[in-house]
Amino acid sequence: MMPDADVPGHLSSIRLPLIAGNWKMHLTNEQAKAYLGRFLPALNELTRGQGGSTKRRTADVVLCPAFTALRTVIELTLDSPVRVGAQNVHQDPEGAFTGEVSVPMLVELGVSSVILGHSERRQHFSETDGALQRKVPAVLEAGLMPILCVGETEDEREAGETERKLRQQVQVDLAQVEDGLLPFVVIAYEPIWAIGTGKTATPEQAQEAIAFVRALVQGFDKEAGNQVRILYGGSCTPDNAGQFVALPDIDGSLVGGASLKAESFAAIVEAARG
Ligand code: PGA
Repeated sequence: MMPDADVPGHLSSIRLPLIAGNWKMHLTNEQAKAYLGRFLPALNELTRGQGGSTKRRTADVVLCPAFTALRTVIELTLDSPVRVGAQNVHQDPEGAFTGEVSVPMLVELGVSSVILGHSERRQHFSETDGALQRKVPAVLEAGLMPILCVGETEDEREAGETERKLRQQVQVDLAQVEDGLLPFVVIAYEPIWAIGTGKTATPEQAQEAIAFVRALVQGFDKEAGNQVRILYGGSCTPDNAGQFVALPDIDGSLVGGASLKAESFAAIVEAARG
């Protein structure tokens, strides 16, 4: 991802498709090296295949390894279009917070983005909307791209509570973002029932929820709502990723399981290029 000339750090104000791979607690340094040994040539092949074609778009590609593999992945992707993200960060710049990592620490490493509020962090590590309300501006103000995850459980969907849940998460988590930085937020709509289950949202469900999320951001600032990138996440594969990114409000994918195999993640990037 090339930063825009008028925009700080790694932020982008253009709705270029974005494909982010969330490795979760997988891949050691050695495994990450082996992965990149296959992924980078596959990506290169795609870019070359794109030469001269006016039809195909470029896409931003972000890999989000565990903290321990960040340095390795950053070093090995320096000469490539791949950017590297973390999977979480603390809201304070420093302090007595054993086991946590701060924004300045990530900036020093050369990280470009941070996944925030993933449902696994909300569910297993008690991540709250109150903390996210501080994390999102902290990340943006450092010039890093937040990928804020939102989404409903299966019970909430069945009870007709999807919009209420999305409204609560978007409105609280983005409440402290300055207007000028709002267009640079990336949101990932990830229905919790679709994460790691092999059960995706239908294109209609994804488009409807994502259009609703976009309208919520437009509620803060109309133009920012038009500019934010909103991704779909939840059991994305090379076979289904293209159908989501083709929809009017969907700007890419956040990919878990299928990002762990270099070849399938490269195929998802290819699908996003249309
Ligand atoms: P999945 O995970 O692609 O394995 O469903 C997505 C995510 O958790 O971000």
